[in-house]
Amino acid sequence: MTLQEPRLCQVSVGAGLLGNADGHYQKRFSDLRGLYADSAAFGRLLEERGQEVAYEVTSYTPGSRVSDLILGVTRMEPGKVGDEYFLTRGHIHARGDRPEIYYGQAGHGLMQMESPDGEVRILGIGPQSICYVPPFWIHRSVNLGPTDLVMMFAYPADSGQDYGIIERSGGMRVRILDDGQGGWKQVENPAWQPRSASEIAAILGGAA
Ligand SMILES: [Fe+2]
Repeated sequence: MTLQEPRLCQVSVGAGLLGNADGHYQKRFSDLRGLYADSAAFGRLLEERGQEVAYEVTSYTPGSRVSDLILGVTRMEPGKVGDEYFLTRGHIHARGDRPEIYYGQAGHGLMQMESPDGEVRILGIGPQSICYVPPFWIHRSVNLGPTDLVMMFAYPADSGQDYGIIERSGGMRVRILDDGQGGWKQVENPAWQPRSASEIAAILGGAA
């Protein structure tokens, strides 16, 4: 068999990019309709910054098997929509039993996670902290700070992403808001709908 070539990728912390990457995508504010609670504030953001990059990902994909590891860097702009901190769309892995790690490089934020049956876990992430996202947790990141949130990540290459799981439930169960005192608070999202027992079973059963 022919072995894959080892590869060195340099993280540019200041730029929030991975060097020697083979993938790059950008999400603009205009791509994030429907994510935020305050639609009037989001409308103002679109008018002012709709075509600017909200977050971007540079990555290296060595293959497509479970034994290949996609790695990359994600960079998210700082800011808020109304009182709600900037966030990524979030997803569960299409193969739900695949985990992921995030390694903070710059800035300060949160990894917001939700289990299929609606349990919530929120962990702070910053430079030199590593967040392990176990299998089956929906995950998104939130930028709490005044600067870019930059993280390195890695996950099995066959994981895939299901973004619809959040839309189907009316968003994630809680929203992360400015508490008005320099910190954050989590508030229940009234639009959130619990997943059905059959949907939960289908997600967890996908491990078989
Ligand atoms: Fe992921």
